[in-house]
Amino acid sequence: MKHIVTKSTRGNVEPFRAMGVVAAASKMQAEGQDVVMMCVGQPSAPAPLVAREAAMAAISAGIIGYTPALGIKPLRERLSQHYLDRYGEEVSPDRIVVTTGSSAGFMLAFLTLFDEGDRVAIPSPGYPAYRNILKALSLKPVEIESEASSRWVLTPQMLEAAHQEERLHGALIANPNNPNGTMMVPDAFKSLINTSNELGITFISDEIYHGLTFDVKEETALKYSDQAIIINSFSKYFCMTGWRIGWMIVPEHLVETVNRLQQNAFICAPEISQIAALHAFDGLDELEATKASYKENRDLLLAELPKLGFREIQPVDGAFYVYANCSQLSNDSEAFCQDILNHAKTAITPGTDFDTKRGKAWVRFSFAGSKADMKNGLQRLGDYLKR
Ligand SMILES: Cc1ncc(COP(=O)(O)O)c(C=O)c1O
Repeated sequence: MKHIVTKSTRGNVEPFRAMGVVAAASKMQAEGQDVVMMCVGQPSAPAPLVAREAAMAAISAGIIGYTPALGIKPLRERLSQHYLDRYGEEVSPDRIVVTTGSSAGFMLAFLTLFDEGDRVAIPSPGYPAYRNILKALSLKPVEIESEASSRWVLTPQMLEAAHQEERLHGALIANPNNPNGTMMVPDAFKSLINTSNELGITFISDEIYHGLTFDVKEETALKYSDQAIIINSFSKYFCMTGWRIGWMIVPEHLVETVNRLQQNAFICAPEISQIAALHAFDGLDELEATKASYKENRDLLLAELPKLGFREIQPVDGAFYVYANCSQLSNDSEAFCQDILNHAKTAITPGTDFDTKRGKAWVRFSFAGSKADMKNGLQRLGDYLKR
């Protein structure tokens, strides 16, 4: 049938497969099946109690309304303080924009920085939404493959080579990265940013997994460049995925453009979440305890997964993921994950989300759940693979 209402080509993006796995696993759970969730990048711990209490008090007090587009002043000031406390960096609250999760931060950043057809370098493996949002905004993602020889991170040489092929307008890097948790050591990060600046490429730093690093200390890109765009979120370290709250830091001359785009696209981030986020900074003890549990989970998976036949695990410096090669067990990670879900009742994510070319040989495990979940998941995987 010919439709009168037609589809745009920009909407023709790939699904976020991890979310599909979550949906399938949740459906099985709703049907009463016991499924271990190792697919989703979300903490099983709730937001800190102080944050939840502040949100409840705000609801009891009355109206939850619109806020200024850039966010409530106390939260922007608290975030500015956070940069001084954690990184020793002075950042004016005027440069900080509160967003509806980092996801809205990407939209605002891309709309602020780029014009149709502009080319933006992203890592592969990397977070799939980068590619898909860029495409939906008629921008060109340029996937640069990281490799074992460079410890699975992008190097200045790789960036330069892609730029030489055809001009890059931007580069977007997460450090630690999703799906592997791999980080650039500070010197490598600094040289990547320097190269980006020298080549006139706008550097966007996704710092969403900051706070969740185990061996390498994370540095904000602001330390190396006041021209970098910082995107961050309360979703991961602060355990606030569903509150949809994040922030970005932009150079002063871009603030007004971001303000106007936010006013028009989103009006503001939800006020209730802004209030909760402000108080989340008073719940760091709880968050540090959660982080300590991730480290135990990580160590358990790193010890056990190789025994099950998973290989080439990329360095898990931070975040809560293990990205492992499964080619000894299957040559099709999508079918493999589906089988594991059906038969081992354990949900893990195929690498095809994160790496369009090599992803069939890789899978991602999330260790954001409880230790009991990890043990249970490993046991089920072991039993399934021994069959
Ligand atoms: C690297 C990275 N960036 C951004 C996001 C989006 O997070 P949110 O919109 O909840 O802040 C995620 C979510 O998993 C992620 O892994």
